Amino acid sequence: MLYLTESFSVMQSNASEGTSSMADQSAILEDVRRGMIPAHIYNDQEIFALEKGRIFGRAWVFVAHESEIARAGDYVVRRVLEDSFIVTRDESGEIRAHFNMCLHRGMQVCRAEMGNASHFRCPYHGWSYRNDGRIVGLPFHQDAYGGEAGFKRKGQRLLPAPSLDSHNGMIFISLDPDAPPLREYLGDFAFYLDYYTKQSPSGIELRGPQRWRVKANWKIGAENFAGDMYHTPQTHTSVVEIGLFREPKAEKRKDGATYWAGNGGGTTYKLPEGDLDERLRYVGYPQEMIERMKTSWSAEQRKVVGEDGFMISAASVFPNLSFVHNWPRVAESDDVLPFISVRQWQPISENETEVLSWFAVDAEAPEEFKALSYKAYLMCFGSTGMFEQDDVENWVSLTNTAAGSMARRLRLNSRMGILADDTEVAPALTGEQFAGPGSARVGYSEYNQRALLSRWADHLELPITAAVARDIGGQDEVVPALEHLPSEDTAEVTGA
Ligand code: FES
Ligand SMILES: [Fe+2]
Repeated sequence: MLYLTESFSVMQSNASEGTSSMADQSAILEDVRRGMIPAHIYNDQEIFALEKGRIFGRAWVFVAHESEIARAGDYVVRRVLEDSFIVTRDESGEIRAHFNMCLHRGMQVCRAEMGNASHFRCPYHGWSYRNDGRIVGLPFHQDAYGGEAGFKRKGQRLLPAPSLDSHNGMIFISLDPDAPPLREYLGDFAFYLDYYTKQSPSGIELRGPQRWRVKANWKIGAENFAGDMYHTPQTHTSVVEIGLFREPKAEKRKDGATYWAGNGGGTTYKLPEGDLDERLRYVGYPQEMIERMKTSWSAEQRKVVGEDGFMISAASVFPNLSFVHNWPRVAESDDVLPFISVRQWQPISENETEVLSWFAVDAEAPEEFKALSYKAYLMCFGSTGMFEQDDVENWVSLTNTAAGSMARRLRLNSRMGILADDTEVAPALTGEQFAGPGSARVGYSEYNQRALLSRWADHLELPITAAVARDIGGQDEVVPALEHLPSEDTAEVTGA
């Protein structure tokens, strides 16, 4: 049997070496909930061991967008931490996520990162699988196993991801077979997700991902994108100085609002006076795209931009998916051009993160817009993007500093926006001022970082139940009934 073995026991090590006991862990969660963040959580092996099981063993994790696997047989290989999955569209058009481990000796079945294949053949001994996961080729089945009597091939398939769901074409998986429906998990954040992923009935298409590793803890980027408007005037001064942005001063960010709704939250910019059309034109959208946005968005979604005057910028969905929307100058003129990027903070360890960064654009956008928007994305948030470089240096340095013994003597103040007695520095906006769901406030605050880390604490507190393992090829197991099975080991292997 195989179990998810993480538990509090990993926390019960030597306190004199600075490691945590169970009681320490409760104190950590308590501190986080009151906005005082034990600095070592940004570089702590034991905390990371808990995060692996209790967060990434349970939460919905983004793996791909449907546009990346548009045709039958298209696949991408994506991970949830160490677990590799083949996310594919099978011959009947159904989207599946197969655990990328051969049922024979456990070799990784598909080693390419993306492609198109009707079957996947394991490089080790040559077992092959249809792209719906069913085993189809088992060399020397009769000679080696004695046929079905020895190894029951019928009904065997690559292990599916325990839960799979999608919203606006965004495909997520969860390692928890009892995960709530994705829409329920997203909650009211789905309202804001539409600004990034539903600008027309066709939705977005993705290009990428660019992938790179940074020596920083995964939570830092997620927190930053969720609500850190406060860093812009300092960290990104040079981007404003060289005129990449039309906004004259980075501190204009304080006029924007942050919002938190459901399982995610983000930041906005305050737009100059105008109606919906004028404001969307201000950030660089051509009229034909504006017309489609107007028919794709609800009255409330239109009001946030058109009447309340807030335009979405960065956002994060717990645990590790972020978005950014911005509108830099892409040429020596006053014209700006908006771009959207989808980004995942894939943890490698407590002090290293793989960033997966996609360019996203409305599928119905004119080709010229797509080309310029891609350029805008690369200038700002691609692997060489100017914002990217500014941000990451902070995050790497923070992670390094969090590793030592002194960081264990420090609780960082993440209470911006509330006074000592928990009253608010600025009140939440009313429904008249902000038509979106959740709670929104103008100005600098750390409500969103606290909300994200509160969910982190909620997950860490809840033990995870042991996963059930099953025998492969045994005679007694209950296997799912399949309508047609291939009769022999003769499938042609066309890829991977
Ligand atoms: S491990 Fe895949 S065929 Fe043997
Ligand atoms: Fe930044």
